[in-house]
Amino acid sequence: MGDKIKVGILGMGRAGDGMHTREMSLFKDKFELAAVCDIDAARAEDMGKKHSCAFYSDIKEFLASKKMELVVVATFSLDHLKNVEQALEAGYSVIAEKPLALNYADGKHYLELDAKYPGKLFCRQNRRFEAAFQHVTEILASGILGDIHTIKLRRNGFNRRNDWQVLKKNGGGQLNNWGPHLIDHALQFLNYEVASVWGELKRVAAMGDADDSVKILLRNGKGLTVDIEIFGGAALPSNTYEIYGSRGALFVDPAEQDIKMRYIDPEYKLKPYPIIEGHPNGFAFSDNADLPWIRKTIMVKPASGLHVNSFYGVLYDTMRNGKTFPITAKQAVEVIRITEEIRKQNPQF
Ligand SMILES: NC(=O)c1ccc[n+]([C@@H]2O[C@H](COP(=O)([O-])OP(=O)(O)OC[C@H]3O[C@@H](n4cnc5c(N)ncnc54)[C@H](O)[C@@H]3O)[C@@H](O)[C@H]2O)c1
Repeated sequence: MGDKIKVGILGMGRAGDGMHTREMSLFKDKFELAAVCDIDAARAEDMGKKHSCAFYSDIKEFLASKKMELVVVATFSLDHLKNVEQALEAGYSVIAEKPLALNYADGKHYLELDAKYPGKLFCRQNRRFEAAFQHVTEILASGILGDIHTIKLRRNGFNRRNDWQVLKKNGGGQLNNWGPHLIDHALQFLNYEVASVWGELKRVAAMGDADDSVKILLRNGKGLTVDIEIFGGAALPSNTYEIYGSRGALFVDPAEQDIKMRYIDPEYKLKPYPIIEGHPNGFAFSDNADLPWIRKTIMVKPASGLHVNSFYGVLYDTMRNGKTFPITAKQAVEVIRITEEIRKQNPQF
């Protein structure tokens, strides 16, 4: 194979055409779309013509073509595992779209595939590279907010959704849709230590019978709680991040352009404050006013330089330059384990 990575996309819908072709085109010197495949033959032909590449409506012919090195599986959620396995068996490197699987038993199968085809499976937790997530993670690691006790993650909106994703029989619902992204973020913050999982699913505004509103609490048992909301029935917005620590806090609003922070000067050593149990001295019952608070707003600009469209750049560095891919199959399968625990708590979904 030449230096450029030739790609074949299986499933040319909103993800295949709307996201993968666009994201790949940001790295024109690194990736080339060589073939597309869609079970909808007319769509496959349209897409082949649109992207001037080979097109197929039969997966067997597509996989036998050997026109590519990397296959993107962006089919309906129900088919991901089957299609990923087919593409790996055919000898390709594979990007597996989320949700990897609709239950944990199938999810664990990815670990077997990863062991059987080492270095070939790439799980698409693409929002791991979001600039705001990256920057917030860097701030927490710097320690300026102290010990973090609560992280609120919100992606709320109001959607009377009506596509295949609103039906349970298709593996639809918000838990399978946005859930994998925010559970991945939460697990990163929790360092994969999960002592308890609580989740509540509802259907509020969407059509169909699948959930469109998700509330999750994940705790590490050491004082950190991650509180996730993905509401399809929230007519007013919430901050995307609200993070609270023992020395400060930060907020990021839905535009994700800047980070607002208020924290105690890191140079300042907090001293024990004597407790007075007798008659209170009016309302002066804390040293809050004396603390050297710093309040600032900074632009979202992570030192990592990563952003939501970085997936293909990171993948190229792995496939061509031998760098370690930061998203492991084990991490992605842990997302499915948490998803299943929440689903079990909400048997109606
Ligand atoms: N990572 C992300 O940010 C992200 C974003 C959007 C969607 N997705 C995922 O991508 C998947 C597809 O979602 P979508 O919104 O693009 O759906 P979509 O309905 O817009 O597109 C799916 C396409 O796949 C085709 N298809 C289905 N089964 C096929 C098969 N067996 N072989 C070939 N083609 C097949 C369909 O004809 C359709 O064109 C979903 O599982 C979704 O969760 C991921």
